[in-house]
Amino acid sequence: MSSPPKAAICYFWGIMMPFVNLAAQRDAYRNQLEKAEKAVLDSGCYIGGPEVQALESELSQYCGAAHTVTCGSGTQALELSLMVLGLEPGDQVIVPDFTFIAPAECVQKLGGVPVFADIDPRTLQISPESVERLVGPKTKGIIAVNLFGQCAPYEKLREIAGKHGLWILEDSAQAFGATQNGKKACTFGDISITSFYPTKPLGCYGDGGAIFTVNPEYAEKARLLANHGSKERYRHLEIGTNGRLDALQAAVLRVKLHHLDQELERRQQNANTYDQFFKSLSGFTPQVLAEGNTSTYAQYTLLVEDREGFIKRLNRAEVPYCIHYPSPLHTQPCFCAGHAESTTDASRPIVEKVCKQVISLPFCAFTNVQKIIERI
Ligand SMILES: Cc1ncc(COP(=O)(O)O)c(C=O)c1O
Repeated sequence: MSSPPKAAICYFWGIMMPFVNLAAQRDAYRNQLEKAEKAVLDSGCYIGGPEVQALESELSQYCGAAHTVTCGSGTQALELSLMVLGLEPGDQVIVPDFTFIAPAECVQKLGGVPVFADIDPRTLQISPESVERLVGPKTKGIIAVNLFGQCAPYEKLREIAGKHGLWILEDSAQAFGATQNGKKACTFGDISITSFYPTKPLGCYGDGGAIFTVNPEYAEKARLLANHGSKERYRHLEIGTNGRLDALQAAVLRVKLHHLDQELERRQQNANTYDQFFKSLSGFTPQVLAEGNTSTYAQYTLLVEDREGFIKRLNRAEVPYCIHYPSPLHTQPCFCAGHAESTTDASRPIVEKVCKQVISLPFCAFTNVQKIIERI
């Protein structure tokens, strides 16, 4: 039996209250969305075309990336990026041990070896010290994940990458719109990606993703690979895939992009309200925002010493929750079966502890956080 999609799990647990209130968001922008959707449906142009081109240039303008190439999902953006970077079988790539599976999955799918790094116990981001311990002769690059909406520690990661001649792939699936020292996410990697999964800070009504880079050759290659390795119809230069974003999703994203900054402000206010409440209680520690970072708060996530007790209280109050993430990636059966166990940072006790304490609460720009706090 296939497992239900991520958002559906959250809805299933949250019978009374949505984990992410996408219906309220649609109500808020209904007129603009319906007009944009109708224009695409009436146009007869459903894949690529002017909507997708306009979105790509608006995304570039928003985040300051020189080139943007949209594609079918965040996972596909990762896979295409690794192909662009020339990942070969046996190459090692350092990935965080604490995140969604996609970065490690794409490395292994292309024949590479994911090497799992520990995290910082306060920010929950990949630990540069752990990364440095893991660099070896087969290491080709680092996938840095901007976890829960704030950027990974790029200054230190860049130093390590520079010292050892590694590339950085920035996985900003959760952080389109975040900043670090005034610079927008999706501009920190040699190549960067995001996801437009519906519950992401900038989400469409299906799957979608994008690749960002300053390097024109990388952008050209990504575009080629996302279109069956073809520039001219029925002439295929390389083995690629169907990696296109459809026009309807592009139209939805263009409307939502227009409201993103305002939503990010409301997300910040909601996070502050949760922070104030939980910081006043003992045994609760919200994810720490690193200095110089702003977050999209893709998730509002905190560490709870007595998580089981807290879950009972949430259930009684009919407040939904999610566990992002219940186990270190290196313990997943799909990696244990291969060679990953031998390529993890042996001194990585932090991820193990964090997985036992972490919990995410209902969150988006339309969540009434005060009401949730009262219920809790
Ligand atoms: C960190 C991270 N990377 C990649 C992805 C994959 O994105 P998508 O679901 O669009 O394939 C996700 C999705 O949740 C994610 O959280």
